[in-house]
Amino acid sequence: MTDFLRLAEDIAREAGDMILAKRPTMSEDVETKSSPTDVVTILDKASEELIRERVRAARPDDRFLGEEGGEEGGEAPGASDVRWIVDPIDGTVNFLYGLPDWAVSIAVEVDGQVVAGVVNLPARGEVFTAALGEGAWLGGERLRCNSGVPLARALVATGFGYSAPRREVQGRVVAEVLPRVRDIRRGGSCAIDLCSVAAGRVDAYYERGTNPWDYAAAGLVATESGARLGGLRGRPVGPEFTLCAAPGLFEELHDLLVPLDPERDS
Ligand code: IPD
Ligand code: CA
Ligand code: CA
Repeated sequence: MTDFLRLAEDIAREAGDMILAKRPTMSEDVETKSSPTDVVTILDKASEELIRERVRAARPDDRFLGEEGGEEGGEAPGASDVRWIVDPIDGTVNFLYGLPDWAVSIAVEVDGQVVAGVVNLPARGEVFTAALGEGAWLGGERLRCNSGVPLARALVATGFGYSAPRREVQGRVVAEVLPRVRDIRRGGSCAIDLCSVAAGRVDAYYERGTNPWDYAAAGLVATESGARLGGLRGRPVGPEFTLCAAPGLFEELHDLLVPLDPERDS
């Protein structure tokens, strides 16, 4: 597990350094994906390519899931039970606007369970790490999420998808949440939002429509800090819904959200 974490951290740092070094000249190259506001830059692709190459060189049999290039490996009989789950830049819109909250996110999953996670924030000089059963860390500092915070005093992070109909629902849901909590934050990176729960920078995070590459690494950082991570109505975390907070606040926020039916898209 420590070997996985070390390798993931080395690769996430190398990708982050590459992005920072190339950024001034290359970041204007932008294409769109699922909607006109869902962007990908040349550096998202270059970062994923670098990470794929490094993983392939070190662990040629492992499977790989990256946001930009999809699934790789796993077809052959006896394929590795190890899968790398990668978001080469989480928070691309922040990246595009010169805001510092974007991250390289790398998780290592064994037999379907995430055992190591790294979230590197190059523009902030921060690297969050976690290994299953061994805690969550920001550099040398062990992380514990905030506990004992009642819903009415909770600072709650959330995010919005890229499709307009989904956003309309998300706007209606957040309008019901806002008057019942301390305040809302929309940071622009799911991975950083989850790490922020771990570091006590927010008390909770929820969002509909995130993907494994968004939450795999940071989800482990959050749970290793003592937070609960899941979906609604006892389901595991997934694209339907991501909810994360210390136990107690998790249940309070869950019970506020469920009647708002936040998993619909119109
Ligand atoms: C997005 C960010 C954002 C979240 C979106 C994600 P991307 O990832 O994590 O905070 O609200 O749901 O898709 O596109 O920047 O990699
Ligand atoms: Ca993402
Ligand atoms: Ca991304």
